[in-house]
Amino acid sequence: MESHDRDSWPQHLAHHFETPAQQFDSGKLGMWLFLGTELLMFGGLFCAYAIYRANHPEIFAWGSHLLDRKLGMINTLVLITSSFTMAAAVSAAQRGWRFRQAGLLLVTLIGGCVFLGIKTIEYRPKIEHGLLWGTRFHPDPAYVTAHWAGHGAAHAEDAAAGDVHPEEPAEKPANLERGRAIAYETCASCHGPDLRGMPKNGRDLTASPFVHDKSDADLLAFLKVGRTPWDPENTTGVQMPPRGGNPTLDDEKLLDVIAFLRVLQASVASPESAGAPEVALGPPVDPGAESTVHRSVIPHAADPPAGLAHAPETPEEPQTPGTPEGAHRFFAIYFMMTGLHGLHVIGGMAFIAYLLVGALLGRYHATYFTPVDLGGLFWHLVDLIWIFLFPLFYLI
Ligand code: HEC
Repeated sequence: MESHDRDSWPQHLAHHFETPAQQFDSGKLGMWLFLGTELLMFGGLFCAYAIYRANHPEIFAWGSHLLDRKLGMINTLVLITSSFTMAAAVSAAQRGWRFRQAGLLLVTLIGGCVFLGIKTIEYRPKIEHGLLWGTRFHPDPAYVTAHWAGHGAAHAEDAAAGDVHPEEPAEKPANLERGRAIAYETCASCHGPDLRGMPKNGRDLTASPFVHDKSDADLLAFLKVGRTPWDPENTTGVQMPPRGGNPTLDDEKLLDVIAFLRVLQASVASPESAGAPEVALGPPVDPGAESTVHRSVIPHAADPPAGLAHAPETPEEPQTPGTPEGAHRFFAIYFMMTGLHGLHVIGGMAFIAYLLVGALLGRYHATYFTPVDLGGLFWHLVDLIWIFLFPLFYLI
């Protein structure tokens, strides 16, 4: 190994590197390793999101309407723009354009400030109206209701629009026997053992005008989404879960149930004129069992350990009507993920501020721009994570 002459040693080359290129590559490798650990950390949270969402879809449907899509959208655009100015700053540094570099870094920094400012505007009402995690969750009914006004109608439209092709149902003759079995296995757990309704739960299906007046396609669209407690048409304040809470009921099976309900309704409406139905109408008899009714519920995730949190003063929290059980979990995940992301924005901004000073001092130029390059990589990661967070919380 040849020894280097101190005088020809570039000022920016640290003593433990042989060449500027080696220094650059090491820096880059280290940064990618760090970004890898970042992805692992956020990956864990994205897994938590996926599991909770799969187990409690209603909580996410409820919570996402309490977020402000418009602000989320603006923030997405702000971050994308700042990523662009950051990339331009890196390229200005590579060309040694000192003031253009500083200007672009400043614009990126302002983008970060705008993002955090909008985040504050978003967080504030949630904190003020008790939309927080765990035992701090005391939603203000007036606030929640105000945010829901208007969404109910949109929901009904979603339900009616559905992805149903009206021609399809007629193609295949329905399997009434299978429809009957499903009705008494799945639907009966809330709609009563004889499908005539249960107090504070599913309604009478044998005489429901709702069932009677809707076409098969519309009814199928309804069964696929169910009815949220905050739907204006809801009378019980209890959720009718999508597909009766049984995701294995595909469209074909639901159409069988619908066909069975038609036969059932016809014979209940006019027992004489209906004649002999093609299928037995009563529940399938299972002599061995005490009850033929099986519970069909979405499994609930176990409650987290209480840790050091204070127990709520009253064991039963007064619930806002329409708030699904365990809704605080939405805000736990929301604040955890967007909060951690926000901290990364702050970290990124601190680094960009440091780069800005360096740029003004002329520290970065065509032969040495590693810090600007690495800062850019980090900023793009921060941007990328938000691009995932925004649709996951606000849109779907
Ligand atoms: C977990 C309980 C539950 C299960 C299981 C369930 N439902 Fe429901 N369903 C409800 C509740 C609660 C309502 C009433 C909502 C309201 O207040 O408007 C309802 C309402 C309905 C309505 C609207 C009735 C009307 O008159 O407005 C139909 C139709 C319906 N359910 C069909 C079904 C079918 C078919 C199944 C089986 C595939 C099923 N439900 C399974 C709870 C359930």
